[in-house]
Amino acid sequence: MERSLSMEIVRVTEAAALSSARWMGRGKKEEADDAATEAMRTVFDTIPMEGTVVIGEGERDEAPMLYIGEELGTRSGPEVDIAVDPVEGTNIVAEGSWNALAVVAIADRGKMLHAPDMYMQKVAVGPEAVGKIDLNASVTENLKAVAEAKGKDVEDVVAVVLNRPRHQEIIDEIRAAGARIKLIPEGDVAGAINTAFDHTGLDILFGEGGAPEGVLAAVGLKCLGGEIQGRLKPKNDEQIERCHRMGITDVDKVLKMEDLCGGDDAIFAATGITDGELLKGVQFKGSKATTETIVMRAKSGTVRFIDGKHSLNKKPDLVIKE
Ligand code: FBP
Repeated sequence: MERSLSMEIVRVTEAAALSSARWMGRGKKEEADDAATEAMRTVFDTIPMEGTVVIGEGERDEAPMLYIGEELGTRSGPEVDIAVDPVEGTNIVAEGSWNALAVVAIADRGKMLHAPDMYMQKVAVGPEAVGKIDLNASVTENLKAVAEAKGKDVEDVVAVVLNRPRHQEIIDEIRAAGARIKLIPEGDVAGAINTAFDHTGLDILFGEGGAPEGVLAAVGLKCLGGEIQGRLKPKNDEQIERCHRMGITDVDKVLKMEDLCGGDDAIFAATGITDGELLKGVQFKGSKATTETIVMRAKSGTVRFIDGKHSLNKKPDLVIKE
């Protein structure tokens, strides 16, 4: 994989964030997503690579662009697989809440799990607790493991969990174990990645979220030296069949880092759309705008935070759909 791809995809996530941020707080999640998707697609076409979307906006007949199987790039350069989430946290943008990201992950061809659109049970940690967590162990055991690995008491551990009724048992067990919780409304990619950064104060992520988001988080954590484990949660025969079609034969298998994103190289980039613990969101200042992006590469272990200052020639039109 060309290392220059890292810098190229910053332009992709920046463009998506800039377009989608125009919709912040307007209560229009689809418009926020469409704007980001279109901007992402346009910039992708300028990148010298032979890219194929493996995680995208849906199947070919469901999504006009960035659909699974779509070819991206100038068709010269490295052959890569691409996972996109133009807006990770569409409701967050619609509400103007925290931690919405524009996200892209790139891996060598065939190395990323083609995660179907369904839930995945997840546990994720940063580098200090790698090798200590186990999706098959109880929540309490994982809390103890992460506490020991980080040299703190369980009472000092903060677990991040999507605030959903389906997580009540996990929440109860975390509280019974004496650890603390940060309940997030949306956005478990940010939740997982944030466990790798000390200043976020987050130690471990538990719970079920989107399977595609699980793969994106795995690429991010691979670059950061962290770990995520996942198990697909198909809810009916049709979803089980979908797993099989995507090459996943054992749906109960605990998916480890190598299953989610194999090989020794991968690139992850995310630009903040709205403010979060890790990244500031887009700020518009008349004819200028600022962005903050994290871009990382697994092979080199490089992690860069990039402040972008952008000249806006014209504001994108806001077409309000009723
Ligand atoms: P969208 O951007 O597709 O809305 O996803 C946001 C998100 O919160 C993900 O971060 C998470 O994995 C998933 O939705 C959780 O799904 P649900 O809202 O059904 O619990």
